[in-house]
Amino acid sequence: MATDYLNLMDPLTFSEQVPHEYFAHLRATEPVSWRDHDAPSIPYWAVTSHEACVRVNREWEEFSSFPKTSLINDNTEEMIAQQQLMMLNMDPPDHTRYRRLVNKAFTPRMIRDLEVRLHTVTDELLDNVCEVGAADFVVDIAAELPLIVIAELMGVPFEDRHKMFNWSNSMIGSEDPEYRHSAEIGEIAAMELYAYASDLFSKKRSHPTEDLMTALTKVNADGETLSDLELELFFLLLAVAGNETTRNLIAGAMNTFFQNPDQWQLLVNDRSLLPNAVEEMLRYVTPVMCFRRTAMTDVSLEGAEIKKGDKVVFYHVSANRDESIFENPNVFDITRSPNPHMAFGGGGPHFCLGANLARMEIMVMFEHLLDRMPDITQAGPTQRLQSPFINGIKHIPVSFTPSAKVLG
Ligand code: HEM
Repeated sequence: MATDYLNLMDPLTFSEQVPHEYFAHLRATEPVSWRDHDAPSIPYWAVTSHEACVRVNREWEEFSSFPKTSLINDNTEEMIAQQQLMMLNMDPPDHTRYRRLVNKAFTPRMIRDLEVRLHTVTDELLDNVCEVGAADFVVDIAAELPLIVIAELMGVPFEDRHKMFNWSNSMIGSEDPEYRHSAEIGEIAAMELYAYASDLFSKKRSHPTEDLMTALTKVNADGETLSDLELELFFLLLAVAGNETTRNLIAGAMNTFFQNPDQWQLLVNDRSLLPNAVEEMLRYVTPVMCFRRTAMTDVSLEGAEIKKGDKVVFYHVSANRDESIFENPNVFDITRSPNPHMAFGGGGPHFCLGANLARMEIMVMFEHLLDRMPDITQAGPTQRLQSPFINGIKHIPVSFTPSAKVLG
């Protein structure tokens, strides 16, 4: 087992793969371990067992998202102040109010209505590559679906959606040289996104349409509204949270199927396994690897004595391979059941708002891939994103038997 010290905040630690052996070592020896050699981070606790991760996620009074935000970087006070206006970085009761308002617009019906559109968009994407018989799976297929869906949900005109892609890449792929060359580029991208959102909201107010952003600009029945700044920040949150995560799940899952062709074959033969397979893809890939909290009081966690004010980072990616919860956790088994993974969170107040939408996108995408490209294979090396936060893939060359377009 790999036991040499690894810096979990160094993007390069994740450049070849997620260090699962090292996480297994931490779970076995010190599931809540003090880390003071992980530059550029300040010293922090790494929480790696399923049980402790769930506790950190649920017990928001002890482990708060607010003081230093949920993000693992140690930002300036000025940046923290701005990010604290985003739902992801709030605690109840502010978070509860925000989430209630957003939930009113983000209805199950709105998500269901997207389903038909999802099928068409997926067919369009596959039509763009099917005659050639080759593609970059990430750029041509996995990245496009979530991008189009979020753009449609928010009422962003079709021709502007790649601006969103570039802005969110510049912000999230902050450490990856392909997406970002300096800290300023990330900040400029965020400013441009705010300006764009502000402009979009004034258009929605003067010309309301049937989309989430229009719904959000309206006064709710109980008289509560979101301020302009809150609306812009929600737009930014969705642009990042809805794109990178789903894209990397779809890409990571395809990559996993390439390494486990027997599991692909199972699905080719029996499509009824797909809903179960989606849960296993979420567990096995875990696109969001970790989040941060701040201890609000002295607290004991699996034998570790955490002090008030300490930085606490909990690893969904490790919890999802915890051998005390999952039998043979490193085996990708699409028939696994039960599967209490925490890819969308561990049941705390911030449980992923887009979980049902994401599940639907993944399901539709794989349904169409299985139908139209059952012999899809890897045709070149996988290139990973360098990030200690997102388990991401930037490129996977693929090939498949060419076929005719289905949408004429
Ligand atoms: C496979 C895809 C996705 C994964 C793995 C994922 C993962 C997560 C995780 C781990 C959290 C934090 C949960 C917690 O701390 O309890 C979260 C929160 C969130 N997600 Fe997702 N997500 C995905 C897709 C989406 C999509 C498609 C959307 C929007 C359309 C979205 C919107 C959000 C928002 C707004 C939050 C913050 C919720 C809050 O603070 O109350 N996510 N997501």
